Amino acid sequence: MNLIVRDNPSEIATLVCEKIITLVKRKPDAVLGLATGSSPVASYQKTVETAKNFDVDFSNITTFNLDEYVDNPDYLQSYRHFMDVNLFDKINIDRINTHFPEVSNPKKYDEDIDLAGGIDLQILGIGANGHIGFNEPNTPFDSKTHVVNLTEKTICDNARFFKSIADVPKRAVTMGLSTIMRAKEILLIATGANKAQAVKKMFDAPSETCPASILSLHGNVTVYCDKDASSLL
Ligand code: F6R
Repeated sequence: MNLIVRDNPSEIATLVCEKIITLVKRKPDAVLGLATGSSPVASYQKTVETAKNFDVDFSNITTFNLDEYVDNPDYLQSYRHFMDVNLFDKINIDRINTHFPEVSNPKKYDEDIDLAGGIDLQILGIGANGHIGFNEPNTPFDSKTHVVNLTEKTICDNARFFKSIADVPKRAVTMGLSTIMRAKEILLIATGANKAQAVKKMFDAPSETCPASILSLHGNVTVYCDKDASSLL
């Protein structure tokens, strides 16, 4: 895995944005794998600005998001809403090409990704417990898209996006670890001291106790850390 350490999250966002824009220009029908959460927000903002300033065309781009909540009655708290607000509303992407996994038929998601030609560039964050997507510790490395019960830790971490912890959905549907590993290139963003332990474990020998550690078995992964997230390496 390549490791890139920068002083602050804004420098990381610039680098990730460059990767996205370069791909979209080189391959106008590319397939992007996208994450929600705090980690990619600044990268999406920079992507929006760059797309606007340089007229970058997303009309033939396809996206597959990593995950979506289950049993969540509120569109405003959905990951689709997050993506609409942070990216899709602000670029000329065709909504028909934007995909989220569905609880009714998780397996179809892997098939749909394959049918689209596979993910060219997958963006990831990392949970404080080492999860990627919603693949919590001890998820089998060969997992495909599936429904998960979220851990207490993840529910607590996500409570900041909800009115109260009681409102945080308890289940999600997520790309599996083997689904993520099929991406041609993977970028993982980790910022803040609360990610330092997970980043350290990610660079240890691959173990299902740290889902992100599977990434060292992939040939084209770049981990972007700020100083705090890389402090234990
Ligand atoms: C989000 C996702 C999660 C987050 C992780 C980090 O789609 O798949 O794995 O990337 O929980 O979240 P943040 O970036 O909010 O710290």
